Amino acid sequence: MSIRVDEVSKRYSAYPALDGVTLEVREREFVALLGPSGSGKTTLLRIIAGLDFPDSGRILFGESDVTDQPAAQRGIGFVFQHYALFGHMTVERNIAFGLDILKRKARPPRDEIRARVADLLTLVQLDGYGPRYPSQLSGGQRQRVALARALARNPRILLLDEPFGALDAKVRRELRDALRSIHDAIGLTSIFVTHDHEEAFALADRVAILNQGSVEQFDAPARIAAAPGSDFVRSFLE
Ligand SMILES: Nc1ncnc2c1ncn2[C@@H]1O[C@H](COP(=O)(O)OP(=O)(O)OP(=O)(O)O)[C@@H](O)[C@H]1O
Ligand SMILES: [Mg+2]
Repeated sequence: MSIRVDEVSKRYSAYPALDGVTLEVREREFVALLGPSGSGKTTLLRIIAGLDFPDSGRILFGESDVTDQPAAQRGIGFVFQHYALFGHMTVERNIAFGLDILKRKARPPRDEIRARVADLLTLVQLDGYGPRYPSQLSGGQRQRVALARALARNPRILLLDEPFGALDAKVRRELRDALRSIHDAIGLTSIFVTHDHEEAFALADRVAILNQGSVEQFDAPARIAAAPGSDFVRSFLE
């Protein structure tokens, strides 16, 4: 589903965290938000998720204005670096969590949930890991579980905030490739936050470069590399 961010502003103190941000993400597109610490990446992602609300401007999913909707109503999946798994639940229960908590009328039957969890474990290449606990997994495996959990309710939009930040370079590359294949396979529209420009350029169809709450440039990686839109972009990519 397409996402439109329309003139969104947000301030927490004297300085704006977002200053009139406009961005259009196409259906099935993979967009990276790239920028230095404090540039507004997390703020923008939280506002798209409905975990925070703008002072002004609008958020549209497809044709519908979701600006005032809370996260639970937006039908999105998200993976945040610090949104940890539940340590007292098995991998299976962690993945099923979003389905288990639905009211009885909306909740799929038990064997349907079990089948869905099995499919998701296959998708993130963790077949057989269902009965384990998070403490028995590597960091990369935990992030795979977090990704499966985010996909459990079959969202059309996936939002990720530095999901692989704490992992070593090799595991990071593997997960990045796995994420891109999953995105393509299930036809998601994804926004991925990172401050690592190599990661952004390797993964995304288009990259939005943020600086102090504004979008400096939004274009395909090759085009940004060939023609940096400002001195800021040029020096950030060095
Ligand atoms: N809850 C908050 N209260 C006050 N200020 C905040 C809050 N959240 C963010 N800010 C401020 O808004 C600005 C943007 O922060 P944001 O977290 O969006 O940056 P970021 O690009 O995600 O940075 P990082 O790469 O370090 O995660 C910063 O100046 C930050 O201090
Ligand atoms: Mg952040």
